[in-house]
Amino acid sequence: MVMSIGVTPDKIIYAHTTKPQSHIRYACAQGVDIMTFDNKEELLKITTGHPNAKLILRIAVDDSKSHVKLSTKFGATLVTVESLLKQAHELHLDVKGVSFHVGSLCTDSVAYKRAIEDAHHVFEQARLIGFHLDLLDIGGGFSGPGFEMMSKGINEALDEFFPADRGVRVIAEPGRYFVDSAFTLAMNVFAKKKVWSLPISQKDGNGLDTLIMYYVTSGIYGAFIDVKIYPDIQRYVRYMRPHRSVESTEPRYQSVIWGPTCDGADRIMDVWMPELNIGDWILADRVGAYTIPMSTDFNGFEKPTIYLVVTPQIWKMLNLKG
Ligand SMILES: Cc1ncc(COP(=O)(O)O)c(C=O)c1O
Repeated sequence: MVMSIGVTPDKIIYAHTTKPQSHIRYACAQGVDIMTFDNKEELLKITTGHPNAKLILRIAVDDSKSHVKLSTKFGATLVTVESLLKQAHELHLDVKGVSFHVGSLCTDSVAYKRAIEDAHHVFEQARLIGFHLDLLDIGGGFSGPGFEMMSKGINEALDEFFPADRGVRVIAEPGRYFVDSAFTLAMNVFAKKKVWSLPISQKDGNGLDTLIMYYVTSGIYGAFIDVKIYPDIQRYVRYMRPHRSVESTEPRYQSVIWGPTCDGADRIMDVWMPELNIGDWILADRVGAYTIPMSTDFNGFEKPTIYLVVTPQIWKMLNLKG
């Protein structure tokens, strides 16, 4: 797909450390030479499937500051790096660089700093074994908010461990950064139920002991399939009534927002919010990354429909017709 839009194979990295053999052969046939690895078995597969590959060793790094952890599944731990590099050398494979991924939605630039320092250590180990590494891939994990702060920390670490005169090319693999805020998810309230959050004997008389449950059109099998990515989703939620605006002075009720499916785990969030009615909308901003592509139609509920919205100014700027 990427090559069909004019990208040459030398610009593509096969950035999965555990690949089916047939995919390795396909990459080889297409001229995609750069690929990552983090284990010995993969090296053996690459030896037969793509012996001239240019390899990038992915290392496991501290992902504790990220919402989505990746380093349990991917990346060689530092204690295994030396033997992996030696094996690659014995197999006459060419190792060209180091990559890492601090985990998606990283909240602390220190994670990148430490990872860059670890990568520097691996560069030194590789040099002693006889490789000349010239590529550092700092992966993804970037989010829109706080990006400048994060970049500052990363640049400082790069200046310290990979100064420009070392001739190491530094690249990144930003994913969510581009689409974090691409969508606003509009969930329609199609059902509602009031229950008591306290035993009847402790009713407080003003209704604030009421728990209101709402059932909306997209849940954890829909756009919120990776609900753990949205620990602070409440910050991005708004409410909309078709005929009466939601006032900030309205009392807030303890509420649960459920997705539409039969599954009791399909619980989007617990939140204090104004009372909504059937037909009202709950809007969630910043749901661009890892939402619609991962959503399912489990239970027969459709995936979210996408509507494109553009302001008149942008319409003019893009010179759109129609
Ligand atoms: C190898 C690799 N690179 C880049 C990304 C993009 O990460 P993010 O969306 O956090 O920027 C991912 C996402 O899982 C990944 O697995």
